[in-house]
Amino acid sequence: MSPQALIIANWKMHKTIAESMDFVDELLQWKPPEGRTMLIAPSFTALAAVGKRLHRTTASEGPHIGVVAQNMHYEDHGAFTGEVSPTQVKDAGATHVIIGHSERRHLFGETNEVLNKKIHAAEDHHLVTIYCVGETSAERKAGKAKDVVQQQIEQGLAKCSKEFLRSMIIAYEPVWAIGTGVNAEPEQAEEMHAFLKELLQKETRVLYGGSVKPENAAALIAQPSIDGFLVGGASLDPDSFKKIVEA
Ligand code: PGA
Repeated sequence: MSPQALIIANWKMHKTIAESMDFVDELLQWKPPEGRTMLIAPSFTALAAVGKRLHRTTASEGPHIGVVAQNMHYEDHGAFTGEVSPTQVKDAGATHVIIGHSERRHLFGETNEVLNKKIHAAEDHHLVTIYCVGETSAERKAGKAKDVVQQQIEQGLAKCSKEFLRSMIIAYEPVWAIGTGVNAEPEQAEEMHAFLKELLQKETRVLYGGSVKPENAAALIAQPSIDGFLVGGASLDPDSFKKIVEA
């Protein structure tokens, strides 16, 4: 684990604006351990309110908490009903964006090619990208986990600059571990993280995601190539999220 671990709460399609603000206010009254940075990815309806609250927060009012958009389109504007542009997520206060979450890939059909366009848009707009990769259970059973992840990296990050690759973040999220309660074993995750770091010349941070909870966070974060977490279900409750940050 690097001394600067990042812990991202991905709230997916949960929480009203008021519920999101209550959570953020509770975190602002808390002091996370040294070296832990928290980021929140609220739903789009709450992004602007959370962004405004966190941008206005001075150091004396609470810890720095980063603001993350869960997704975005690659165009700046246009006739794309229901989509949100890079300019709009920045306007709402996001400094980071999640690209290629497995729910976007598997439920909404986003391909490595489309994700590559989104990543270039994020680079152009100076949004720190959290790019998600991970294999399905069938791909792991067939012995193809590393091939799948390598292809997601090569195609998704095609033609990105070296500086961008250094500043971005990868989230390794095996699809079979997301929302299932079954996390990757720490050694299993470490093996893939080390592989990813090798592919990326050891310069890119790699977070783990997939059923992270207070009970397994310490064993996972103890692995040398795990630089933090992307947390779904267990980030919805402030106490559980704080315990993960403290692990
Ligand atoms: P989970 O989700 O923690 O609920 O498994 C992780 C994610 O999808 O980012």
